[in-house]
Amino acid sequence: MKVLNTKNITKVYGGKEDAGSTRALDGVDLSVEAGEFVGVMGPSGSGKSTLLNILSGIDIPTTGNIEIDGRSITTMSKDELALFRRQKLGFVFQEFNLLDSLTLKENVMLPLILDKKDSAYMEEKIKEIMSLFEIYHIKDKYPHGVSGGQQQRAAVSRSLVSDPAIVFADEPTGNLDSKSSNAVMRLFTKMNTERNSTILMVTHDAFAASFCKRIIFIKDGKVCMEIVSKGDRKEFFDRILDCLAVIGGEKNEI
Ligand SMILES: Nc1ncnc2c1ncn2[C@@H]1O[C@H](COP(=O)(O)OP(=O)(O)O)[C@@H](O)[C@H]1O
Ligand SMILES: [Mg+2]
Repeated sequence: MKVLNTKNITKVYGGKEDAGSTRALDGVDLSVEAGEFVGVMGPSGSGKSTLLNILSGIDIPTTGNIEIDGRSITTMSKDELALFRRQKLGFVFQEFNLLDSLTLKENVMLPLILDKKDSAYMEEKIKEIMSLFEIYHIKDKYPHGVSGGQQQRAAVSRSLVSDPAIVFADEPTGNLDSKSSNAVMRLFTKMNTERNSTILMVTHDAFAASFCKRIIFIKDGKVCMEIVSKGDRKEFFDRILDCLAVIGGEKNEI
């Protein structure tokens, strides 16, 4: 089943196309199946954040259509989109964005509270997800009272609590040392393999990307290459580096 499908997305910043405008996306077609774990890579300025913002309804495309879970988000009203984002999309941010004044449980529960789910349902859901990520026993602690790794697991739990159709992550390992990056990528792998979560992650980090099953490379706002993992992470990592070497150069490209 297709969870995400886009046709010919373009994004031009700065109004009409003239000397002062930037074509950040130039005809992106993208399709993601349920249960996929997809990485998006590309040089700085290639349009990765723009793409993620548009796919997740934070920004609107100049042209093109985006379908998520069978619905076109480009034609939704503001209110419809807000509801759709809360119910159907999960987000993991670089800084993890837990609220300091809420317990881990309250942080994870937040999307359900906003959605006015009944408390028995919430309790059950919280227990299921926080147990999966081994933080249920510390659910009543505050973010500052637990380790960085436990905070990550709470953030990941929160992104999944509403059973989203797809989880978007923008550079989730961006600020982390290699040990913490590894821990976060193992969490994503666990989401993907044990909950069959569909994940689309933007990253510039080949190590993080090597955990994905498929990588889409973009350059100058266009999809320029795509590779699929054969299951061996080291082998995939090497192929990712090869692709980055090909598309990375500013001047001396192929
Ligand atoms: N809000 C904006 N207004 C004008 N130009 C922008 C804006 N955001 C991004 N851009 C431009 O669009 C291009 C793609 O940017 P971005 O999507 O942030 O790339 P990436 O995340 O791959 O580094 C760049 O040339 C950038 O300068
Ligand atoms: Mg970016």
